[in-house]
Amino acid sequence: MSSVSQEFTRVVSGMRPTGSLHLGHYHGVLKNWIKLQHEYQCFFFVADLHALTTHYEQTDVIEQSVWDVIIDWLSVGINPGACKIFIQSKVPEHCELFTLLSMITPQSWLERVPTYKDQQEKLKDLDLATYGFLGYPLLQSADILAYKAGLVPVGEDQLSHLELTREVARRFNYLYGKDKGFQSKVDEAIEKMGRKNAKAYLKCLKAYQEGGDADALETGHALVSSQANLSLGDRERLYGYLEGSGKIILPEPQALLTPVSKMPGLDSQKMSKSYNNTIALREAPEVITHKIKTMPTDPARVRRQDPGTPEKCPVWEWHKIYSSTSAQEWVQAGCTTAGIGCLECKQVMLDKVLEENKVFRKQAEEYINNPSLVKEIVRDGCEAAQNIARETLQEVKTAMGIKF
Ligand code: TRP
Ligand code: SF4
Repeated sequence: MSSVSQEFTRVVSGMRPTGSLHLGHYHGVLKNWIKLQHEYQCFFFVADLHALTTHYEQTDVIEQSVWDVIIDWLSVGINPGACKIFIQSKVPEHCELFTLLSMITPQSWLERVPTYKDQQEKLKDLDLATYGFLGYPLLQSADILAYKAGLVPVGEDQLSHLELTREVARRFNYLYGKDKGFQSKVDEAIEKMGRKNAKAYLKCLKAYQEGGDADALETGHALVSSQANLSLGDRERLYGYLEGSGKIILPEPQALLTPVSKMPGLDSQKMSKSYNNTIALREAPEVITHKIKTMPTDPARVRRQDPGTPEKCPVWEWHKIYSSTSAQEWVQAGCTTAGIGCLECKQVMLDKVLEENKVFRKQAEEYINNPSLVKEIVRDGCEAAQNIARETLQEVKTAMGIKF
């Protein structure tokens, strides 16, 4: 229902710096970002403040990881020519908006976000009974709303945070969207549409507000966006009026669900540092070789002459990602007839993993050897981000009556 085309839709997403990234991140989140950077106006940031909510006692991990994560992004193809890369704490507007939004966010909304209790249970050795941790999802809302993002690529575990963000935006617009003289400005704007369109608009409004007709909402929206002679302010007021709130100051973002990564860990569980089954993006080739050579296989293949079933083998999952169709056919035929040995089978996939790793490491090296280039990329990203966030904060503060 956006009134602007895709290339102007802003995409914002963040990642917490709590260690270097692995192949699971690459095949899940990062490949998706690499695609999105060419389709939308993308802002990707390192969420160091979010990392502090859980790792406030291990801040050295965060400090190192911020740069590791950025170099990881750059080496897999997140391209600063196509998107902006920045560090959350370097754009203090995130904190400012977080504080302002906290004034209108009921405490119970935060207490009932499922990740609050879940994470406290899961991360038992950390003391997460802090005000900052309770506020985690609201800080995320500030990250998103500061840029008026249209789309937010996140995993399923983050959907409740997006829902909170939408509720907070709605509440904000409801409380502060009705600027002085809102109704008379709305009336003037409707008049500018001409009699026929004005009538159609009011009909949509009635159908939506009285009957909850979502199609009418969409039609009304389209009608407003097609009016060439309306100012941006008029347009926003008419969208807001249509939806029954005031002017939309903070638009509600949509979640863009990240496709689940098909990349399992070395043991076929989900790849995760806590399971100790990862291969880091810039892992040393010898380590990768060792890890893959000692990877478990189909337990039925005790001896070389025992046939196996690829579907019961973690190595096969990796072949599905890394090997060509013909190599996959060779695995199927060779495994089920005991025609090939497991080491031989692994080697084909290992070669591909090492080939990819070589590219990542080579790219990374360029950035590692040139820290000022990385700093420059981040400085540019922070500046671009701040320019937008600053503007949003001006509007927010004006609406809240604290722009002195
Ligand atoms: N909470 C997110 C995660 O753990 C990271 C994050 C912080 C984020 N701020 C964000 C993601 C804003 C999207 C948008 O994955
Ligand atoms: Fe797994 Fe390959 Fe061995 Fe079959 S031959 S069990 S697919 S490693």
